[in-house]
Amino acid sequence: MKGIVLAGGAGTRLHPVTRAVSKQLLPVYDKPMIYYPISVLMLAGIRDILLITTPHDQDQFTRLLGDGSQWGLNLTYAVQASPDGLAQAFLIGADHLSGDPAALVLGDNIFFGAGLAGQLADAVADVRRDAGCSLFGYPVSDPERYGVAVVDADGRLVDIEEKPEQPRSSLAVTGLYFYDGQVVDRARTLTPSARGELEITDLNRLYLDAGEARLVDLGRGTAWLDTGTQDSLMEAGQFVQVLQHRQGVAIACLEEIALHNEWISPEQSLALADEMGSSSYGVYLRRAINAFVEQG
Ligand code: TTP
Repeated sequence: MKGIVLAGGAGTRLHPVTRAVSKQLLPVYDKPMIYYPISVLMLAGIRDILLITTPHDQDQFTRLLGDGSQWGLNLTYAVQASPDGLAQAFLIGADHLSGDPAALVLGDNIFFGAGLAGQLADAVADVRRDAGCSLFGYPVSDPERYGVAVVDADGRLVDIEEKPEQPRSSLAVTGLYFYDGQVVDRARTLTPSARGELEITDLNRLYLDAGEARLVDLGRGTAWLDTGTQDSLMEAGQFVQVLQHRQGVAIACLEEIALHNEWISPEQSLALADEMGSSSYGVYLRRAINAFVEQG
């Protein structure tokens, strides 16, 4: 399975902050936003990742993330010339995927939960075994802002609606999607919507109409956070701050995940911690590496 992080977009709801800086490079408490979706792919065991940015933001992402080898990743880059829709990621990423199954995560989506790693592993296994796609639903108070999943009494996905005026459920389809190897061919059949975008909901409906779409209800055990507005960005930062302080564990510390996945050694991760200097991120990382080594 290969990964794509889609981190383009205009970020107009955060102007003027995002006039000169990509939204996905803004801090969410102690680390850049882009760390969070990358951590989700890493938790799913995905190492081969394409990062799609706007043309003018790519240099800064490269400066921050490099080729990913410091975390045991193979990170490559592509640009989206203009924000023409989420499903365009599969046209831009066609060569990168070369027919393989794919996980797409939006660069501004934050997931956190005790059961998340297990849910991700299940999604990867389901797509490998049964093909099709696995989507994630999350109950929200304002479903009309999202793609909304309609499920039957047994929890099976029966419909997906894009930003419905009268939502038939409170389950928003989150920005994390797992697809089989047909995804590029199916994305190529899409035409732009009324708002001029290649819609991920249209792609998901193709899978749904073929009887090949599953929905995982993330439920109450997992947090899915929005970062698109000043308030939601601030709240996401506060959420991360409170949780990290209270539990003493980090959300989306990429070096720690790479270490636990055994993609890098304790020595390599210590060298990365040194690069973080005296920041709280670096202090945490050193402690996490020591705990990992002591546990053997
Ligand atoms: P949105 O939040 O829908 O759009 P945006 O980030 O441009 O913000 P705003 O609405 O304030 O203008 O996008 C969700 C995520 O998907 C975000 O990480 C940007 C990304 N995206 C792309 O990379 N390309 C696209 O064509 C679109 C529509 C979004």
